[in-house]
Amino acid sequence: MTKNKRHQLIVILADQGDQYVSGQSLSEQLNISRTAVWKHMNELKKNGYQFESVPRKGYRLVSKPLQLDDNTIKWGLDTEWLGKTIEFRDKLDSTQDLAHQFARKNYPHGTVVITNRQLAGRGRRARSWESNHDGGIWLSMILRPDIPPHQASQMTLFVAVTLVETIERLTGVPLKIKWPNDLFIGNKKLCGILTEMQAELEVIQYLVIGFGVNVNQKQTDFPQGLQNKSTSLQMETGQQWNRTELVQAILQDFEQSYAYYLEHGFDFVKQKWLDHAYRIQEKLEIRQHNDTFRAVMEGINDDGALIVRTEAGDQRVIYSAEINW
Ligand code: BTN
Repeated sequence: MTKNKRHQLIVILADQGDQYVSGQSLSEQLNISRTAVWKHMNELKKNGYQFESVPRKGYRLVSKPLQLDDNTIKWGLDTEWLGKTIEFRDKLDSTQDLAHQFARKNYPHGTVVITNRQLAGRGRRARSWESNHDGGIWLSMILRPDIPPHQASQMTLFVAVTLVETIERLTGVPLKIKWPNDLFIGNKKLCGILTEMQAELEVIQYLVIGFGVNVNQKQTDFPQGLQNKSTSLQMETGQQWNRTELVQAILQDFEQSYAYYLEHGFDFVKQKWLDHAYRIQEKLEIRQHNDTFRAVMEGINDDGALIVRTEAGDQRVIYSAEINW
């Protein structure tokens, strides 16, 4: 209850932007005494929020904390189900692994696991994911969608599209999606997505979808081998970004689009994916089994597979391959 009031207080002040809100108005909107409002503000200050108070005008929110923790994420998070259960750890091996443990213990649809650092972050194809740095967003969510297992790949593309839209809206940086689901700025990777599924033949028990976004790292924060391949929002824009605000916006946008996806299907996701596709209509070198060939990338199908046209003019559908981009 108390935390809920604190959340509402942040939402009210954040909505007003630079405007002041009087103590009286806050007390009426929250249905608590003015002393209680003041106490909540003091608690919020301990978590890094900064307020300005001006006699006869009231209060305004000056800044939100840069550091991540579960309170600061929850207090401004305006969602119905996504992130209602948030498990935050300052550091852990991998949010994916912890999310799997929670999913097996029946944690609800929408549970979010988030951390400042991962000591054993995992990428696709059993690669490691560099995330032993508190400048990124390392987050996994448990989803229990009522869709058949073969449609799970659509969810990954859906996450890619949502992340692109939210990050572009907040930062103004144009992003591309490299098939199947890496987010790129220019020719450097900003974000990776990992979807893992526990399913029976006909039903999905749960999905754990994890993503890592490089936010406030400098070039030298990446290991040598990644310095020319990876980028961060800070490197691209020259400014630090508030990870709490990014996480909140991502979760809010995701929840809204998720309802739309379940109701309207994959078409709008596919269209948005194509609008942001990296190297679409360009020639790529594709290595599959023992066959290497060149082909033009034409698009994706409803399974998220890549559609290409070979030099001989045949269309091929690629589910898995090494691609020389
Ligand atoms: C890839 O590009 O190969 C996917 C990278 C996915 C990284 C995220 S970070 C949060 C979650 N926890 C992990 O261990 N991996 C995913």
